Amino acid sequence: MSTSTTSTTPPQAVLTPYITTSQINARLDTLADELNADYAGQSVVLVSVLKGSFMFLADLIRRLTFDCTVEFVRLASYEGTSSTGSVKPVDLSLPVLKDKHVLIIEDIVDTGLTLNMFLEYLKSVHQPASIKIAVFLDKKAARQHAITPHFVGFDIQDQFVVGYGLDADGRYRNLPEVCILEQPSGS
Ligand code: XMP
Ligand code: MG
Repeated sequence: MSTSTTSTTPPQAVLTPYITTSQINARLDTLADELNADYAGQSVVLVSVLKGSFMFLADLIRRLTFDCTVEFVRLASYEGTSSTGSVKPVDLSLPVLKDKHVLIIEDIVDTGLTLNMFLEYLKSVHQPASIKIAVFLDKKAARQHAITPHFVGFDIQDQFVVGYGLDADGRYRNLPEVCILEQPSGS
């Protein structure tokens, strides 16, 4: 029988708990109240930005009481723990959104580059009736593009975080809480 153990922590990376699951659940309840009040009686298309927003979407949507459908796009701007400075539209396939109410669901807004690019794309190509943004985390101190999300789960410090869907090179998405990732120097 093997005696090896498995861990989600690669050698040397340090994870410091930052937002607990009970804090997340409590905030999702109040965030959903805000959304349910704002969109009461309307039909809304949730557009979830993969991959990072999958857990936020899954937990948020089951608290929503208004009529909604879900679409997914896939955008990528990060390599490791830093932005590449450009957004790669991995998959932008969407149905016709003209005259629909669109709510973008995103894991985190950091520099604002990703949402800035995606907003411009949606406005020019799809011309929805309205576009609002719900983000799980808002890292305001890192902002380089004028993006103000309408709904925010938590404001966070300018530190690289993982867990609850957020990753570093694909890892840590499975963590149920948000942790600060401290990379060893030189990595
Ligand atoms: P921008 O800079 O375009 O960043 O607003 C948005 C995308 O970058 C990723 N990102 C992070 N991912 N921890 C992560 O796991 C972070 O602290 C972080 N900051 C930015 C994320 O994919 C987001 O959609
Ligand atoms: Mg993302």
